[in-house]
Amino acid sequence: MHFGVDYYPEHWDEGRWDKDLELMKDLRFNTVRVAEFAWCRLEPKPDEYDFSWLDRFLKAAEAEGLKVMLGVPARNIPAWLSASDPKTAIQAYEGHRESFGTRYTTCLNNSYLRDRALRLAERMAQHYKTSKAIHSWHLDNELGDASPCYCPACRKQFIRWLKDKYKSCSALNEAWGLVFWSLEISDWDQIWLPTRTNHFAHNPSLLLDYRRFTSWVTEVFTEEQAGIIRENCPGAIITTNLQSTTRFHTDYYKLSESLDFVSTNYYPPESYNTIDLDRLRSLKKGPFWVVEQKSAAPDRKVREGSRLQTSYGFLVPQPGETRLNTYQSISRGADMVLYFRMRPCLFGQEQFHGGILNYDGGTGRIFDEIKKTGLEIEKIRPYIDGTKVESQVALLYSYDSRWAMESYPPGIEMDYRTVFLDYHREFERLHVATDIVSPESDLSDYSLVVAPLLYVMNPGIVENLVSYAEAGGVLLLTARSGLKDENGNIIPDILPPALSELCGISIVEGFPLRPEQKAGIIEEGGDEYEVSRWIELLNPKKGCTVRARYKDSWYAGQAAVTEMRSGEGLACFIGSVPESRFIRNELKRLLKFADINVPMNAPADVYISVRNGNGRNIVFCLNPNSTMRKISLPPGTVMKDLIQGVKIQGELELAPLDVALLIPE
Ligand code: GAL
Repeated sequence: MHFGVDYYPEHWDEGRWDKDLELMKDLRFNTVRVAEFAWCRLEPKPDEYDFSWLDRFLKAAEAEGLKVMLGVPARNIPAWLSASDPKTAIQAYEGHRESFGTRYTTCLNNSYLRDRALRLAERMAQHYKTSKAIHSWHLDNELGDASPCYCPACRKQFIRWLKDKYKSCSALNEAWGLVFWSLEISDWDQIWLPTRTNHFAHNPSLLLDYRRFTSWVTEVFTEEQAGIIRENCPGAIITTNLQSTTRFHTDYYKLSESLDFVSTNYYPPESYNTIDLDRLRSLKKGPFWVVEQKSAAPDRKVREGSRLQTSYGFLVPQPGETRLNTYQSISRGADMVLYFRMRPCLFGQEQFHGGILNYDGGTGRIFDEIKKTGLEIEKIRPYIDGTKVESQVALLYSYDSRWAMESYPPGIEMDYRTVFLDYHREFERLHVATDIVSPESDLSDYSLVVAPLLYVMNPGIVENLVSYAEAGGVLLLTARSGLKDENGNIIPDILPPALSELCGISIVEGFPLRPEQKAGIIEEGGDEYEVSRWIELLNPKKGCTVRARYKDSWYAGQAAVTEMRSGEGLACFIGSVPESRFIRNELKRLLKFADINVPMNAPADVYISVRNGNGRNIVFCLNPNSTMRKISLPPGTVMKDLIQGVKIQGELELAPLDVALLIPE
């Protein structure tokens, strides 16, 4: 278990480093991440590298027994680089070139930038290849996070990418349906990019491919940067921080293939959520790292022109919340937690972003709370090391579906992430761990698979789902499943024929509801629920059971929810977007059918997660509420709270914002 902080030695007088490192030690930190934004200090002039300051910092860190995660900058370029080639700047959707002077405004298809960034990586890897101070390497920061670029270099690269994919213009015309509105091309040079138009939208297949292409550019760059470090520094452990599901610029399944470890940030509740931790853990099916854990209040307000732009305004963490959030990361499988950041910066664009220390470098409430957490982590480390979270349930998350839905939503307010969260939240309220995996991945280890809004499917995905259910798996699909093929075009059957057969239904008709409109469904037993946003009328075939029917309007009585046995397996279909109460009850039923047990009988509004290993389970109980919660232990069990060191029997009383880690006594 690594515990530490993000530190920016280049922001502080060197004379202060020792004091800060001493404070890190006091907090029981063992790891510090540095340098991801420090290119202008690492290469102040072209080819004049200066690693001397970093060497001194590494030495000082080593002296305190701290290991370093070394950032290798790439997209936040120095001013000399921008000045020598202004085309390093992204050409925005609106047509202008982005300005130098903030972050993530550079284009990775600019060959000058790419060469310089890879050369920097090479120099750093050569310089530090024998350094004992380095624990791991962190590629750039939030790779992929930028607005898409539409510059001539991107267009050239896009054409290459399309040629490679479609081979001929006629195949591309066919795949994108370019005969519509007379858009067919006869030469690759006629390819256009989906930049701003003032009236109608661009072709949806082009939009989907442009998303895939921009993701691919980041994936390839990541692979190259990682490759150069590995080549020059054998044995290097390489990671980078992937972002929350609020961002969807890059296919992380593909990007993470170049990484040894996946890392993330964790700034709950606004921009990050437990779903993001579950997704990270699932990428490599194992431990992951949190390299930016919220410590204090981020509050970034940047005056831009005459506008006061509040990119996000988090509330300050309540006493206990930073500790609770730290355990949240660990409970979901994190083996490293580094806080962002050691001390608030007195200059630059994030002056109002809090840190562990105060502005004057002194200690206060947040420091004390993290110290308490650090002391606890020292105590629990021997129990945690070597354990991981295991899940019998998978939620299928699809970039293609999300991208296709963002650029061309099938119904009003059909937001992929919102619907996905609806399902994840209900599993969480039932205290059941979920992995979040690609629809193309091997599903055979899971007893229950839920695929909310799996809008885009290729034949491989259809086959994967069918064989999973036929082999005895329990599968839940929702409205709009497989409506689109991999080109982003509608399939004539609405539901892919093999899924239609598996679920024992065809779709008679589908239509959107107005945002404020609700419809009702009635279950066989008479229970009623609300649905919204989209209605699909299902036609059950022989052998299919109708579980709920629409209640009102001209479609009253038509099937809304169905299930079909398939050998030992089960294929269920929800033809709408139901309220959470329905989702919860439906999931409960399916968990029972799939024989999946709930670890603890606890109120829905506490978090329960289990890490397993070394022959036992460690049950994390977190109370995020402002009042006490009671958790019932399984009858007859005696457990021990690793933090308090006390025995628990019968019921655990968890104070507001408190945490308990239970092991069998
Ligand atoms: C992260 C980013 C950091 C810092 C932080 C502020 O997204 O990686 O560099 O900006 O946000 O909360």
